[in-house]
Amino acid sequence: MTQDTAPLAATDLPEGAAAQRKVFIKTYGCQMNVYDSGRMSDALAADGYVTTEDMDDADLVLLNTCHIREKAAEKVYSALGRLRETKKARAAEGREFMIGVAGCVAQAEGDEIARREPAVDVVIGPQTYHRLPQALRRARTGERVVDTEYALEDKFEHLPDPTKVKGRVRSVTAFLTVQEGCDKFCTFCVVPYTRGSEVSRPLAQIVSEAEKLVADGVREITLLGQNVNAWHGVDGTGQAIGLGELLYRLAEIRGLARLRYTTSHPRDMDDRLIEAHRDLKMLMPYLHLPVQAGSDRILKAMNRRHKASEYIALVERIRAARPDIALSGDFIVGFPGETEADFQATMDLVATVGYAQAYSFKYSTRPGTPGADLPGHVAEEVKVERLARLQELLLKQQQNFSRSLIGREIDLLLEKPGRMPGQLIGRSPWLQSVNVDANDSKIGDIINVRITAAGPNSLFAEVAEG
Ligand code: SAH
Ligand code: SF4
Ligand code: F3S
Repeated sequence: MTQDTAPLAATDLPEGAAAQRKVFIKTYGCQMNVYDSGRMSDALAADGYVTTEDMDDADLVLLNTCHIREKAAEKVYSALGRLRETKKARAAEGREFMIGVAGCVAQAEGDEIARREPAVDVVIGPQTYHRLPQALRRARTGERVVDTEYALEDKFEHLPDPTKVKGRVRSVTAFLTVQEGCDKFCTFCVVPYTRGSEVSRPLAQIVSEAEKLVADGVREITLLGQNVNAWHGVDGTGQAIGLGELLYRLAEIRGLARLRYTTSHPRDMDDRLIEAHRDLKMLMPYLHLPVQAGSDRILKAMNRRHKASEYIALVERIRAARPDIALSGDFIVGFPGETEADFQATMDLVATVGYAQAYSFKYSTRPGTPGADLPGHVAEEVKVERLARLQELLLKQQQNFSRSLIGREIDLLLEKPGRMPGQLIGRSPWLQSVNVDANDSKIGDIINVRITAAGPNSLFAEVAEG
């Protein structure tokens, strides 16, 4: 560890040192970015920044960006246009206002951002954000910093202990990144290019972070990875282990009540992981297992490396191990070459599997990915129409699932206050948001409730007797 990147504990800061600087972080994209935003705010807190929810109050605005679809990347440039105006206004007042771009657009288009938008002070990548304080210091001397180059250095070793960061407000649920990057190279996807190749964090580092989170009041941990079930490590005896085994280890942490993990690739659901679903009650019965499409021809063109029938057989094995498991998925419509018959195969697969929740997208061409060069790009209006049909079916399945819970008693982890006095909002085992009148309970409790109604985005419940 070099002196330059050594973490500075918040408690080491001289009182009042740069204490007034405020950062506003806008997070786009997936849960990994949510986790990274938290860690960036930790890194900045150790440097005297406090996080604000009010952009107008900030001295630094950091956009933690997503590159997954064209729209996601475009949002960044329009946000930067607005920030440029704020910067001008602030300069007129003589107040510092810095603009940073982090995340996957930063990694993919770092130099291009710096060229297109001169108001940007710092561009920092998903693997280099532990150097944010240094980058900002350099930027204050007038340098325009693009720091996205990373070698084998492990940012996690340079980030401050999140539980020691002053002012960090923690929820009872937390994300914990265990794996980053992806080697799957699905032909539509930018992730292998923005996040790099697959890297697993060491077992001891993960267990230690989980223990700290639990000591800090966290009751539910969601393990994150672009391809989380590709996680692999070695245990204390030198034995190679996978995600299933990691879950068994984490399940031993006293005080931890719930475990989840996301996102998984169907090819990496091994036997041990399925056993973990069978054996670990605290592993929540909800699995995000994207399939993307139901036609074997399209799956092949997407380089998903499995057939629709293999996916369905896998789902059956998982359901045999954990009958109350609910499935969630991602779907892409209008991949190059997709015919009406191919699309119908996706509809058929959805009908066969039955999803409790799903995310579906129109194919978006990403420059540099193999999909961009494939023949047979599908017309926009065809994509729109197919997406509407698919979403109608998925929504119906989601509503059916929610309604099937009415009258049932379930465990609820209370997460935050509700809108009405005495009301709390919790999470069901299936990740649904549930409103309950629970005067005698507090955030962090797991209580038994009876579901009374299902709204479009959340459920309603009453405390169950006993
Ligand atoms: N690692 C995860 C998800 C990565 S991105 C996985 O392997 O499933 C999240 C989702 O965005 C993907 O599952 C896919 O459905 C969607 N997606 C990725 N690239 C896309 C593109 N070019 N156009 C449309 N949707 C895309
Ligand atoms: Fe992208 Fe495929 Fe990797 Fe998921 S598995 S991150 S979709 S390349
Ligand atoms: Fe987007 Fe990067 Fe996540 S491209 S989906 S923020 S890994």
